[in-house]
Amino acid sequence: MAENPLLPQFRQAGQGQVFAHFDQLTPAGQQRLLAEAAEVDLAEIAGLTRTLLAAGGSAGADLAGLEPAPYEPRPEHGGDAAAWAQAKAAGEAALRAGRVAAFTVAGGQGTRLGYDGPKGTFPVTPLQRKPLFQVFAEKLRAAGERYGRPLHWFIMTSHQNHDATEAFLAEHRWFGLDRGRVHCFRQGRMPAVDFQGRIMLETTSSLALSPDGHGGSLRALDRSGALDLMRSEGIEALSYFQVDNPLVRCVDPAFIGWHLLHGSQMSSKMVPKAYPEEKLGHFCRQQGRLVVVEYSDLPLAMQRETTSDGQLRYRAGSIAIHVLDREFIRQMARADGAGALPFHRADKKIPTVDAAGRPVKPDRANGVKFELFVFDALPFARNPLVIETRREDDFSPVKNAEGVDSPQTCHDDQLRQYVRWLRAQGAAVETDAGGRPRLTLEVAPSFGYDEDSFAASWASRPPRAITDGLYLT
Ligand code: UD1
Repeated sequence: MAENPLLPQFRQAGQGQVFAHFDQLTPAGQQRLLAEAAEVDLAEIAGLTRTLLAAGGSAGADLAGLEPAPYEPRPEHGGDAAAWAQAKAAGEAALRAGRVAAFTVAGGQGTRLGYDGPKGTFPVTPLQRKPLFQVFAEKLRAAGERYGRPLHWFIMTSHQNHDATEAFLAEHRWFGLDRGRVHCFRQGRMPAVDFQGRIMLETTSSLALSPDGHGGSLRALDRSGALDLMRSEGIEALSYFQVDNPLVRCVDPAFIGWHLLHGSQMSSKMVPKAYPEEKLGHFCRQQGRLVVVEYSDLPLAMQRETTSDGQLRYRAGSIAIHVLDREFIRQMARADGAGALPFHRADKKIPTVDAAGRPVKPDRANGVKFELFVFDALPFARNPLVIETRREDDFSPVKNAEGVDSPQTCHDDQLRQYVRWLRAQGAAVETDAGGRPRLTLEVAPSFGYDEDSFAASWASRPPRAITDGLYLT
């Protein structure tokens, strides 16, 4: 039988090791390996080896000329209240006109949480134990009803969790959303390489492939047909958020309005960092362009710098909530060379096989994964904008099993939010020193998914009493 052309191509690229065990594989194993190899862009890997590996270590971020990025402060921090009101009205008009869709990136592996299953299926609310996907679905459904236009919801999955995600949503009948408006699609994959740039095998018949980072969402939105669907539905803006954050305002009219009125192609929300070492990306300006510098890339001394009024100089923390213009996504998805998102290098322990094909479980980093970050699109955007948001209204991620950003802290933050909404309506709620109510309760997004919607429901159907176990729905 003639040799498959991929074999000589890989050999010529110095990647012959990929097929080292090929002759010993079953026909099914050979097919699998060939199919995975066909996904690999050999020129891209060669380029990354030159740019990210040749230096012999992580080069670190280029910090030349870095300064804090300006942002639009909230009215209580000196922002222009009239401009915020105008933005909110513009965002509401866009939602009523169906010009906005929601987008969740849910392709991550969730290793830190140690939860087995797609992260979106993780139970997160204090009383009803609703999974993250249900929280988003119910918020989107309520927003769709409020604005008279049901929203489309795009969800990016990975190869590992795609089927489980779709099955979960189907089993729960899309949590009341119109099934035709929920769109799951897989993100791309990248092969891991060893420190010499050689593509690694996970088993003799499969490559060590992993998701290409949340920045892969831009290509995946294009490739999956999501952008064409948006165009045919008249949707211009995509409200982007991470699967780990149930507090997020999935579609925030003020944010959407700022983005549209500013003529921005990509806008982002910031919160002032709570403390210097907080693990958030930093909005910065460099050579006149807006950039995000990851917490791991900004030296601690800079993270600790303060201004004369005692505030952190690099205080604008990224909470990974963005609005993106549809055609800007398409432009970025199709760009190449210097106009495209750059890959980042992450050194990892990568299970692989030895020369004899036996499994190897490394106890230290033995290779490199390549990832794209969505915030790297900001420097390419026209009029990029950063606006401030209230942390307590938008951000409480579940990342770690314990400690900061854990199910417990997220639980408490949800309870504190309910307390604020209740008190704003004049209800008396007793709290402990940490601001948590003394009794457990939960507010369904159908009753309130933000202050305004909560106030509207409260006016028309207030509960008789606030008792332990109260579920407002
Ligand atoms: C991320 C941001 C950080 C930000 C913080 C806010 C990066 C590198 N850092 O940190 O700037 O301050 O969130 O919470 O992004 N995902 C995919 N596919 C992938 C990888 C990730 O869909 O290939 C999704 C995950 O499912 C998750 C999100 O992206 O929804 C964030 O991923 P994660 O790796 O957990 O980011 P963090 O390091 O927590």
